[in-house]
Amino acid sequence: MPRILITDYEFESISQEQAVADANGVELVRANCRTEDDVIEAAAEVDGLIVQYAPITERVLKGLPRLKAVSRYGVGVDTVDVQAATECGVVVSNVPDYGVEDVSDHAVALALTLARGIPDLDRGIRDGENVLDSVKPLRRFSSQTFGVIGLGLIGAATAAKAKALGFRALGYDPLHTPGTTTKEGIQVVTFDEPRGRVRRRIPARAVEQAHPPLDQRTHAGAVQGRGHHREHLPGRGD
Ligand SMILES: NC(=O)c1ccc[n+]([C@@H]2O[C@H](COP(=O)([O-])OP(=O)(O)OC[C@H]3O[C@@H](n4cnc5c(N)ncnc54)[C@H](O)[C@@H]3O)[C@@H](O)[C@H]2O)c1
Repeated sequence: MPRILITDYEFESISQEQAVADANGVELVRANCRTEDDVIEAAAEVDGLIVQYAPITERVLKGLPRLKAVSRYGVGVDTVDVQAATECGVVVSNVPDYGVEDVSDHAVALALTLARGIPDLDRGIRDGENVLDSVKPLRRFSSQTFGVIGLGLIGAATAAKAKALGFRALGYDPLHTPGTTTKEGIQVVTFDEPRGRVRRRIPARAVEQAHPPLDQRTHAGAVQGRGHHREHLPGRGD
C-alpha cells in the first residue's frame, strides 16, 4: 500500500486528507517535522510527502530514495529544492489558488489602515492625545495610486479590490506587457513606474505592495525589505 507522510501541519483537522487517502487505498501518516533530520527520519518508508513548512532540501531528497512526490500546502515552493527534486525524479506540486481571497483582503486592509492613519489615531485616542495633526494630510483613496508588484492571483485580486475602492491601480509583472490592461482593469507599467509615479504624484501617502513568489531573486529584497527590494527584482541586472 502506498504511504504518504504529512511532514507538518497546523490545521485543526486532516479529515479531508484522510478521506482522500482512504478512498484511494493510501496509508496516511503524520509527523511534526521541523528540521531536515526530522524529515529524513520520519519519511524513510514513504512514497509521498505533504508539506507545510518543513525543509525539503537536496539533502532530504537524496536521503529518501523511495520518495516520488512532494506536495506543498500553499502556493510557494521556496521550502522545496525543486531543482534537486527534478534531478531525483520527484514530482513537486502546490495549491496555486490557496489563500487568494484571504491574503488580498488582508493586504488591502493593511493598506487602508495605514492610508487613513488608523494605528496612530487609535494609539493617540487610547493615550488621550489629540494626534489628528500627525496624520494629516489624509487623502481620499480616489486621489491615490495603488501600485502592485507581481500581478498573479493575489496581486491582481489586491489591485482589483483597491481599484473598486477608488484607487488608481497599476502594477508590474514580468508576465504582462507594459502599456496593456489586465482583465481586472489594472494598468500594467514598467518596473520602475509604480514607485516612480507614486513618488511624483503623492510622495507621502501612496500604497505599494509586493506579491511575487519568494525565490532567489526576490529573496534578497524580502530580507532587506524597507524599500530596497526594487534593486533586487528581475530586470535590474542581478
Ligand atoms: N502568507 C500566506 O498565507 C500566503 C498565501 C498564499 C500565497 N502566498 C504567497 O504569495 C505569493 C503570491 O501568490 P499568488 O497566488 O499571487 O502567486 P501567483 O503565482 O499567482 O503570482 C505570482 C506572480 O508574481 C510574478 N512575479 C514573479 N517574479 C516576479 C518579480 N520578480 N517581480 C514581479 N512579479 C514577479 C509572476 O509572474 C506571477 O504573475 C506566493 O509567493 C505565495 O507563496 C502567501
